[in-house]
Amino acid sequence: MKVIGIVGSPRTNGNTNVLVQQVLEGAAETGAETRTFFLNEMNYKGCQGCNYCKANDSCKLEDDLTELFDELASADGVVFGSPIYFGQFTGQMRLFLDRCYSLINADFSPRLPAGKKAVIIGTQGAPDAAAFKGVFAEFGGQISNFMCMDVKDTIVGVGYHAPGEVKGDSELMERAKNTGINLFN
Ligand SMILES: Cc1cc2nc3c(=O)[nH]c(=O)nc-3n(C[C@H](O)[C@H](O)[C@H](O)COP(=O)(O)O)c2cc1C
Repeated sequence: MKVIGIVGSPRTNGNTNVLVQQVLEGAAETGAETRTFFLNEMNYKGCQGCNYCKANDSCKLEDDLTELFDELASADGVVFGSPIYFGQFTGQMRLFLDRCYSLINADFSPRLPAGKKAVIIGTQGAPDAAAFKGVFAEFGGQISNFMCMDVKDTIVGVGYHAPGEVKGDSELMERAKNTGINLFN
């Protein structure tokens, strides 16, 4: 099994990546091969709306997302992680999601094989766990509708500001690890 992490936080030592790595570590414990893509360290543009991908089977742009799309196609599980910035996922994650337009056909049917397992990791400064529920649900809806993924869990760290603070929440850390361990169950 192969599980990839896609991190939309620019802070590699941040709370989002801590939780993403917990899930990946859990998956690795069960024998999965894992790899992490840090979107902030990659060079890519947003979707150009050129529709090349509707007449061809891939995106016209050739940049750092080309390799990520290849990995996505062969992955069995994907962990998407982003903090909330101004009430949404980060721009890095948003640009990536727009580029996933090349993963759907002209009739909006998914090109990816159905059934990949997905986990959504979110972090936010606001202490109210319900504050951005709609953002996580919307993201989950997009990846289940257009990438045919089975969203196994959405894990949100709330009230965190300093990088890595979430490590102090042993319950959430354990939940993330267990999600990884049980990803294919
Ligand atoms: C530019 C920016 C905008 C943010 N906007 C929000 C927000 O709208 N709501 C919120 O609850 N937290 C907001 N935060 C706080 C982050 O979501 C929070 O600190 C999160 O834990 C950061 O994740 P990271 O440690 O993985 O980078 C913002 C942080 C930054 C830097």
